[in-house]
Amino acid sequence: MKFGHFDDAQKEYVITSPRTPLPWINYLGCENFFSLVSNTCGGYSFYKDAKLLRLTRYRYNNVPLDSNGHYYYIKDGGTVWNPGWMPTKTELDSYECRHGMGYSVFKGSKNGLTAELTDFVPMGSTCEINKLTLKNTTTDTKEFSVFSYVEFCLWNAMDDMTNFQRNFSTGEVEIHADGSQLFHKTEYRERRNHYAVYAVNAPVAGFDTDRDSFLGAYGENSAPAVVTNGESKNSVASGWSPIGSHHLKVTLAPGEEKTYIFVLGYVENPVAEKWIGRPEDGVINRAPADALLAKFDTTEKVDAALADLKAYWNNLLGHFTISSSEEKLDRMVNIWHQYQCMVTFNMSRSASYFESGIGRGMGFRDSCQDLLGFVHLIPDRARERILDIAATQFEDGSAYHQYQPLTKKGNADIGSGFNDDPLWLIAGAAAYIKETGDYSILDEMTPYDSDPSKATDFMEHLRRSFNYTVKHLGPHGLPQIGRADWNDCLNLNCFSEEPGESFQTFGPSEGPNAESVFIAGMFVKYGKDYVEICKHRGLDAEAKEAEEAIHKMEATVLDAGWDGEWFLRAYDHYKNKVGSKECEEGKIFIEPQGFCVIAEIGLKEGNCLKAMQSVEKYLDTKYGIVLLQPAYHRYHVELGEISSYPPGYKENAGIFCHNNPWISIAETVVGRGNRAWQVYTRTCPAYIEDISEIHRTEPYVYSQMIAGKDAPNFGEAKNSWLTGTAAWTFLDVSQYILGIRPDYDGLVIDPCIPSHMDGFTAKREFRGVTYHITVKNPSHVEKGVAKTIVDGKEIAGNMIPAADVTGSDVNVEVIMG
Ligand code: BGC
Ligand code: NOJ
Repeated sequence: MKFGHFDDAQKEYVITSPRTPLPWINYLGCENFFSLVSNTCGGYSFYKDAKLLRLTRYRYNNVPLDSNGHYYYIKDGGTVWNPGWMPTKTELDSYECRHGMGYSVFKGSKNGLTAELTDFVPMGSTCEINKLTLKNTTTDTKEFSVFSYVEFCLWNAMDDMTNFQRNFSTGEVEIHADGSQLFHKTEYRERRNHYAVYAVNAPVAGFDTDRDSFLGAYGENSAPAVVTNGESKNSVASGWSPIGSHHLKVTLAPGEEKTYIFVLGYVENPVAEKWIGRPEDGVINRAPADALLAKFDTTEKVDAALADLKAYWNNLLGHFTISSSEEKLDRMVNIWHQYQCMVTFNMSRSASYFESGIGRGMGFRDSCQDLLGFVHLIPDRARERILDIAATQFEDGSAYHQYQPLTKKGNADIGSGFNDDPLWLIAGAAAYIKETGDYSILDEMTPYDSDPSKATDFMEHLRRSFNYTVKHLGPHGLPQIGRADWNDCLNLNCFSEEPGESFQTFGPSEGPNAESVFIAGMFVKYGKDYVEICKHRGLDAEAKEAEEAIHKMEATVLDAGWDGEWFLRAYDHYKNKVGSKECEEGKIFIEPQGFCVIAEIGLKEGNCLKAMQSVEKYLDTKYGIVLLQPAYHRYHVELGEISSYPPGYKENAGIFCHNNPWISIAETVVGRGNRAWQVYTRTCPAYIEDISEIHRTEPYVYSQMIAGKDAPNFGEAKNSWLTGTAAWTFLDVSQYILGIRPDYDGLVIDPCIPSHMDGFTAKREFRGVTYHITVKNPSHVEKGVAKTIVDGKEIAGNMIPAADVTGSDVNVEVIMG
C-alpha cells in the first residue's frame, strides 16, 4: 500500500494522505540554517548545531505524535484548520505534501479556501521562509483569520528540556513594526550575540509571544484559545515559554488570492561582542535582522530565492545522472540516493526523527563513510570535512568517536577507543583523492585533538591511522577490537570478571584479547589505498612495509579468521570465537563477509564465493539480509549491547541496511551481478514503495534498520534518513553495479549488472571533464568488459586515464562480454 507517489520530473515525493504510518520528513537547508519538516508541518529549526543553537522547540516521542512545528491556523467561520492537517487534525477537503530537494509544499483546502504553504531555507541566508498563498475558490467573498505559530527553544536543546528551574525565568522578547516582527532574544548563559526573529510582510491585527496566553490555561496547540476566540492577546512573554504568533485578518473576493511571506531567521551581529544595548536600553540591534528581512519581503524575491535553490539542486544532481530501462533505478540514482547523501553530509547522525539532535554530533566513522557518497558532488566541502575530522584524531592515531559541529571539537563524554575509526579516515581520504586527483590535501597541516600546537601534515594522520591497527594486534594477530568496531553493540571488552555484575555499554576500551575480523578486512581494503598513496608520494620503502603487513593480515584472516564456510566475526575477551559454527547463537555475521570479500581476501582460493553463498543460505530474507543468525535469545554479558536487543531488532539480527550494500558490492567482486542486483533492490526505497504500510518509514530514503525475520514486526523499518546506508548504497549502485568508479589515475568502467539488463547510459563529471558513457550488454552477461571505446578509439583495458583526456566532453562506449 502506498501513501503517495514519486514525481520524478519535479524531483519530489508527493504524499496524498496526512495519515502516513509515521511522520515522513524532509530536510530544509544546505549550509548553516536547517529545518526538519514532516508531512504535517511538524519539526524544528536550528543554526549549525541541533544541540547548541536550536531555534524552535520540538518534543520528541510526544503525544500526540509529532505535534510541534511551524503552524498556520486558518479560522474561517466556525472552522479552524491547518494546511498540513496538524495540529487541529480538522478533516481537509484536499491534502497534498510535496517533499522536494530542500523544500516542501503543503496544499490544503477546506470550504472553498485553499492554502498553499511553501517552506524552504534559501541559499546564502540563515532563515526559513514560509510562503503562504490563500485562494478563495467560492463565488462569495471570504473573511477569515490566519494565526501563525512557532514555539521558541531556549537555544541549548538539552538545557531547554531539563533545566526548568532556570529557564522558566530567562525568556525575553521584543516586538517591532506593530507586531509583525517578533524577536526572541533569550540568552543561553554566556551572552551570545544572536537572536531569532519571526516576521510577516504584512500589517497584523495582533500578535502573541507568550505561550500560555496563546494556548489558554492548560491549553494545547490543537485548539489554542487565541485561535478559538479569533483575537490575539498581544501578549509579551517574560520568562516561561516565548512563542511567535501573528494574527492576519484576510478578505478575499471570489477567485482572489493573496500571498504572505513569513520568515523565521537566526541573526548574528558580527560586530557586537554582546547584544548591543542590553541591559542598558533594553533593545537589540535590529540592523542585521532588517537586512535579512529585506531580502525576502516580497513574493517576487521569495520566488526568485526558491528558483535559485532549485537551480542549485539541479546543478548538483547534474554531476552524475543515468538513464536505463529501470525507472526506479534511475529515480534513485538521479535523485534520492544523492539527496540522502547530502543530508547525511549536513547532519551526520545528529538530528532526525530518531536522533534527537542532542545525543550525537558528527560521528568520526559515520562522517568518513558519508564522504564516500557526496565527494563527487561537493569535493571542496569534502576536503574541509576530512580535515575537520582528522583534527579530532589523537596523536597515537586513535580518535574521538564524535565531535560537535559548532565547535568542531571532540566529544570527551564519549571519548575514543573504537578501533575501526582510524581506518575510516583512510577510506575517506582515498575516496577524495580518487575523485579529485588532489594530492595536496596530504600536505595540509592538521591538528591532533583540535590543538593547533600539535599538528602534522595530513599524510602523517593517515600513517598513524594505518599504524594504529599495526600496533594493536591481539593473540591471533588480528586487530584488537577496543570498545567496538563498526558494530557499536559488539562490546567484547565489556566483560565482567564477577559473575552477576552488570555490563557497561561503554566499558573499558582497552582489551588485549578481543579481536575483530571485520577490522582485519578493513585493514586489508584500506591498507591497499594507503600503499597507493605512499607510492604516489615516492615512499616506496614505506609502501613495501605496509604491503607486507597487509599480506600478513590476509594470511592471518585465512588462518584464524575463517570458519570453514564463512569468515568469523571476532574473538572475545576469553579468546572464544564469535560468529562461528561452534557458537550456540550468533554463528554467522554479515560484516566480515562483506568486508573481507570487498578486500578480496581469499578471492583466488574460493573463500569469497563461499562466504557469499553462506550469506545467501543463512542470512537472506525477503526484506533484506539480516546482520546475524541465529539471533541472540539470551543475554550474553561477554558480547555487550548486541544481545540486549530483542531478536530481530537492530544489531541483534535486524536487517541493518548499512551492510546490505557491502554484500551487494562483495557480490560484484565475485562477479554475480544478478545477486548484487537482488540485494540492492530488496532494501531500495523506490523498489519497496508498495509495501509502505509494512515498511512504515519514508519510501524515498533509506532507514538504518528493518526488523529481521526473528521480530514480530518483520519488515518494519526504523531510524530513517541518517544512516551510512545512504553513502554505501550510492557507492554500490554507482561504482560497483553500474561500475563507474573513480580511481587514482582515471575513471574505471566495470559494470556488474543483472543479466536481463541491456545496458544503460550515464553522464559523469570527473575532474572537470564530462563523460558520456554508454554501456551495452549484448550477450547479457553479469560482468566483464569486452571493449572500451573512448571518443571513437578502442583502448586497452577499462580504465580511462585522466591524463589522456582532452576537452570537456568525452564519449565512452563500453561493450560487456
Ligand atoms: C545502537 C547503535 C548505535 C549506537 C550509538 C546503539 O544503541 O544500537 O546502532 O550505533 O547506539 O551509540
Ligand atoms: C549506527 C552508528 O551510527 C554507526 O556508527 C554504527 O556503525 C552502526 N550503528 C552499527 O552499530
